[in-house]
Amino acid sequence: MIALIKDLHSHVGQAVTLQGWLYHRRDSGKIAFLLVRDGSGLCQCVVSKSEQTESFFESARRLGQESAIRVTGTVRADPKQVGGHEIDVSGLEVVGASENYPITNKPHGIDFLFKNRHLHFRSRRQWAILKVRATLVDEIRGYFNRNGFTLIDTPIFAPAAGEGAQTLFTVDYFGEPVYLAQTGQLYVEAACMAFGKVYCFGPTFRAEKSKTRRHLTEFWMVEPEIAYAELDDVIAVAEDFICSIVQRVLKDNRPELEFLGRDLSKLEKIQKPFNRLTHKEAADILRGPRAKEMLENDLATKSARIEEIKKLVAEKEAKEKSQGIKQWEKDKIVQELADLREELDDLQVDVQNIPHHIKLAASFDENGDLGGSDETIISRLHERPTFVTHYPRGCKAFYMKQNASDPTRVNNVDLLAPDGYGEIIGGSQREENLDVLLSRIHEEGLNPADYEWYLDLRRYGTVPHGGFGLGVERTLAWLCGLKHIRETIPFPRMMGKFYP
Ligand code: 4AD
Ligand code: MG
Repeated sequence: MIALIKDLHSHVGQAVTLQGWLYHRRDSGKIAFLLVRDGSGLCQCVVSKSEQTESFFESARRLGQESAIRVTGTVRADPKQVGGHEIDVSGLEVVGASENYPITNKPHGIDFLFKNRHLHFRSRRQWAILKVRATLVDEIRGYFNRNGFTLIDTPIFAPAAGEGAQTLFTVDYFGEPVYLAQTGQLYVEAACMAFGKVYCFGPTFRAEKSKTRRHLTEFWMVEPEIAYAELDDVIAVAEDFICSIVQRVLKDNRPELEFLGRDLSKLEKIQKPFNRLTHKEAADILRGPRAKEMLENDLATKSARIEEIKKLVAEKEAKEKSQGIKQWEKDKIVQELADLREELDDLQVDVQNIPHHIKLAASFDENGDLGGSDETIISRLHERPTFVTHYPRGCKAFYMKQNASDPTRVNNVDLLAPDGYGEIIGGSQREENLDVLLSRIHEEGLNPADYEWYLDLRRYGTVPHGGFGLGVERTLAWLCGLKHIRETIPFPRMMGKFYP
C-alpha cells in the first residue's frame, strides 16, 4: 500500500510503500539509515543486512543524496525519530538515481543556494517556509470568501501608474508602452462600485532598485476594497484579517514554525486591539528617549557580541587545524564557522548602520515618510502590530483621501508588524471627490487623460470607499521569523536576480 509520510500514524504495524527521495544517509556497515522525504514529511527508513535485504543492501549503502526511491517496509512508532515513526525496510527500488547532488550538508553561500533554487527548496527549511506560505495564501482567500468579498481578478498589463511612477516596469505592447501592474487597486475600486466588497489577489511588480531584506521586484499582494467605507472601517477589516491569518498558521503549521525556530508565544500575543498611532505620534516616539535608548542598547549588545564571535572564531579555527581531529568533527566545525561568520557579517553591517539610524530617528521630519529604519524602531517598541495613520499628503499616493480637518494629511494607514518587521499593509480611504482627485493628479505630475476611466468612478455615483494591500512575502517573513524576504517565495525576483 502506498502511504504518505504524514499519514504513517494510521499505518503502525502495517507494511507500506513510500515514494520519495533520499534526504540523508548514514550507515554502520550492517545497518543503513535512509532519511526519506516524500513531500509530506521525513521518515527514517532502516535497512539491516539480512538474507532478505541482500539484493539491495549494498545499493542502499551507496545511494546518492536525492535519489528517487520507493521504499517498502513495516511502520513502527518511535517518538524519538523525526516525524514520530520509523520503517523497517523489506524492499527498495531506485526510481531515478542521483549522483553528486550539488547541495550537500556542507556550508554553501547564499548566492549558490539561490542559483540552485530549483533544488534548494527541497531542503527541510525551505520546505517548511513554503508550507506556511501555502496556508497563508489559503487563509487569505478563505478569509475574504467567508466574509462576503467577491474575487475580482485585475489586469497585469496596466496603462498607467497605480503607485509611484519611479518603480514602473515598462513592457513593449505591440509597439506601445504599457506597465506591469504595481497594484490592482484602481480596478478593485471600479469593482467595489459593482459588487460592494471585493478583493484581488495576484502578483504585482515594482522596479525596486534597492537591494534590501524587504523588497522584491515581483511579489504577491491581496487587495480588498469596500464601498461605503471610511478609514476606520478599513482598519477594522485589516485587524480582523491579520488575527485570522495568525490563528490559522498557528493551527495548521506549528511543526513547521517550531522547526524554523519561531517563538510561538509572540504570535500567540497577536490579538485585538492592535496599537494605533497617528503619524505625528509616531514622529514623537522616533524623536523621543525610548527610541534612542533602544538603539544605543542595540549598539552596545551587538558590539559585545562581535567581540565574542571573534574569539569563538579564533578558537574554532585553531581546533579545525589541530592534529588527529576526526572528519565529522571537522565538518561540524566548518559549519559552525560558516554560521558564525555570517552572523558576524550581519552584526558588522548593523553596528555600522545604527548610529545613522539614531540620527535619522532623532531628526525625523514630521512632514516626511517613515523610512525602513523608522518602521523598524516603531515596530520593535510594540508587541502587537501597530497601525500608523494620517501621513503627510506629499509622501503618499495621489488617490488617498485628503483629511477633512487637516488637508496636509491623508486618511491612510500602514500596518507595522512587531519585532522590527515593519510595514506589511498599506491602505487608505480613497479620494471620492472629483475635483480634489483631479488636483492631486495634477500635483503629482500625472496625466489626467490616463485616468479618465478612474475619474468616471467619481462622476457616476461616487461614495466613500477604501481598502488596503497586504504583501504575502513580508507577512510570511514575519510569521516565520525570517531575516530576509528572499526565502518567502518559491522563485524570488530581485534586482540583478531572475535565474532560475
Ligand atoms: O503600500 P503599498 O505600496 O500599497 C499599495 O500598493 C496599495 N495600492 C494597496 C491598496 O491600498 N490596495 O503596498 C502594499 C504592501 C506593502 O505593505 C508590502 O507588504 C507589500 O505590499 N510590498 C512589497 N513587498 C515586497 N516587495 C516590495 N517591493 C513591496 N512593495 C510593497
Ligand atoms: Mg506602503
